[in-house]
Amino acid sequence: MSNALQRDLLRMAARVEREDGPKAAQDPHRLTFHIQPPTGWLNDPNGLCKYGEDYHVFFQYGPFDCTGGVKHWGHCKSRDLVHWEYLPILLCPDQPYDIHGVYSGSAYIEDGKMYLYYTGNVKHEGDHDYIRTGRGHNTCLAISEDGETMASKQCLMENKDYPAGLTCHVRDPKVWKMDGKYYMVQGARTLEDRGEVLIFQSEDKIHWTHCNTITTPEIFGYMWECPDLFEIDGQWFLCVSPQGVAQTDDRFQNVYACGYFPLYGDFRGDCTLGEFQTLDKGFDFYAPQSFLDGTRRIQFGWMGMPDAEYTNPTTAYGWQHCMTVPCVLTAKDGKILRNPVPELNALHGTLRQLSVTPGVSESVKTFDLQYQTAGQPFELTIHDSVRLNWQDGVLTLSVPQGGAGRTTRVAHCAAPMSLRILADTSSVEVFVDGGATCMSTRCYPTSWGVRWTSGTGDAQLWDMKQS
Ligand code: FRU
Repeated sequence: MSNALQRDLLRMAARVEREDGPKAAQDPHRLTFHIQPPTGWLNDPNGLCKYGEDYHVFFQYGPFDCTGGVKHWGHCKSRDLVHWEYLPILLCPDQPYDIHGVYSGSAYIEDGKMYLYYTGNVKHEGDHDYIRTGRGHNTCLAISEDGETMASKQCLMENKDYPAGLTCHVRDPKVWKMDGKYYMVQGARTLEDRGEVLIFQSEDKIHWTHCNTITTPEIFGYMWECPDLFEIDGQWFLCVSPQGVAQTDDRFQNVYACGYFPLYGDFRGDCTLGEFQTLDKGFDFYAPQSFLDGTRRIQFGWMGMPDAEYTNPTTAYGWQHCMTVPCVLTAKDGKILRNPVPELNALHGTLRQLSVTPGVSESVKTFDLQYQTAGQPFELTIHDSVRLNWQDGVLTLSVPQGGAGRTTRVAHCAAPMSLRILADTSSVEVFVDGGATCMSTRCYPTSWGVRWTSGTGDAQLWDMKQS
């Protein structure tokens, strides 16, 4: 299926990628082993799946405007989760029901087809935050029969089909099959400014009925974006990106929160949510999505934050933002552990064994560092701008030139600890004690490497080969 608007948008996007892509490629902050937009803007991971032999990652993509713009689904695929081939956009805002943005959603694979569920964003006159008239948030389904082009598209639900008491904010469908039925979660904002998750069920993937609503007893933010509901080893987790959660001491320092609730009971009926846990304590982690690869659950996050105050030098090269590395999720004692997929080790180059003392440094642009600390306080600087300091049980990540509100983030960790740090040209992802604590951030250095200013212990450092 194609229409004139879709053909025009695809042509214009291909042209802008061809013409502006080379400029983006010259940016010294262009990443080497992370998914990033060919040009323009990237936010949430969408439609994660394995289709045939290939992993597919779609992303919220504004090809014409590196500060956002109308959203499309950008697309890349990979055999090994490490080397990515960028493909043409698969979904464009080309229908009356998605004309102002093909918003976030998920993929469900059956009978050799990719079912892509997403939110069609339509702006109307009026206040879209409080009443049902200012915006259409349509639940849409696009089908691809080859994983590269769109065969059909339809609108399945509109505002009037959602439960009563909601604003126009109902979005980000995530679909899966269980016990012979299809289920969908969507994030929502009620008229009383409460974030919640709607559960829908279907017999045929097309007709959906609302069967439950999940929220906290006390309001926890006004909107829950990008819900993801899954089980690991018998424990259910509800991941959400809540907007409007108040900062408390050193928690919820980012403009929006992002994490998960353990869910007890049956999500289709009686269930309760346990305590909310932040998934990543760094500056840049939002709207993650997961998918099942056989029996392992893999998650990508957007290594960014919808923070209006945030600026960075990549916009001078016409692009902005990237994904995290893919991580495997496991569960321990009701908590999620997040660790890079082992496939990334294929990028390991030369191994350097380091005996850490103050002043030890390595000048290397992209690396995988594994550091067993000896229990004393330590501080290391990554590239020229990211400092990681531990003392008295507090791990502090600072980016001194990060700008307003983006200077320090903290996590509580006991020593000794094992640290894994994946550093790309403009990102640092820290995984502590087997993924129990994670901290991700972008950075924009002018020189690259790692240097200890204090601390002892042993470290292994591999440089990362270009993917
Ligand atoms: C999260 C989000 C989603 C929405 C998308 C639009 O970052 O706001 O809720 O679908 O981004 O780009």
